[in-house]
Amino acid sequence: MADDDLSPQDRAKRAVAYAAVERYVKPGMLLGLGTGSTMAWVVRAVADLVATGADIKGVPTSTRTRDQALELGVPLIGFDEFDQLDLVIDGADEVDHAGTMVKGGGAALLWERIVADSGTSFLCVADTSKLVDTLGAFPLPIEVVQFGWQATERAIRRFLVEQCYPEDVALVVRTTSSGEPLVTDSGNLIIDAHLQAIPDPFVLDRELVWIPGVVEHGLFSGICDRVLFADPDGAITVLETGDTPPARPSTTVRGRRQAAG
Ligand code: A5P
Repeated sequence: MADDDLSPQDRAKRAVAYAAVERYVKPGMLLGLGTGSTMAWVVRAVADLVATGADIKGVPTSTRTRDQALELGVPLIGFDEFDQLDLVIDGADEVDHAGTMVKGGGAALLWERIVADSGTSFLCVADTSKLVDTLGAFPLPIEVVQFGWQATERAIRRFLVEQCYPEDVALVVRTTSSGEPLVTDSGNLIIDAHLQAIPDPFVLDRELVWIPGVVEHGLFSGICDRVLFADPDGAITVLETGDTPPARPSTTVRGRRQAAG
């Protein structure tokens, strides 16, 4: 696509995607493929590599990424065919200096978390506008089952108030462009929590999933090993974040490595 057709942010997304694949993707790798507009560029870059004969296989985190990968000829594998992925690459809606991310703006957070947990290593790709000092300006997506979702929403509010968020914090069921409730790839709803600022993402990451009806949420802490940023001119910066401990126990290779310090 010609540069003129892209916004500055899209030029940055393309730059970071191609830099990520050039630097970190090697032939023979099993890759977790995230979701979103930045990842769409990564999938293109991986497809370019596959077209040169590189033996790379991917696991998609959404039907959208699956369809794009298949269309571009990136071979996909199922969870019955591997134990650990060599590298998971994914985008973020916000990322702080510890590598804690808000994800799920594309409603793919549940599959993204499952794939992330299968990864030996996690690389976040983002344009520089995603880096924040405090998470939370981007609404936190919370995936909930449809059954009893109003009760789940009330419980989320009670929990947030206990955590000192305002009683009238906006919890908004995400809708499609036609105004219908958005249904995720797993058949669930998304409640976007407009928290404005999340002073303690580790507590929310750990505790929100205990609420009955909450399937997963978009706060990913202690998961990201490295963030690659690009600005619209293509300048790349790297933030190493692998020392941040996970908020939740993990039995994966990566989780055990972190637990061992
Ligand atoms: C998908 O559900 C999200 O977690 C994405 O990773 C996130 O929204 C980033 O998307 P963009 O690359 O489109 O900004």
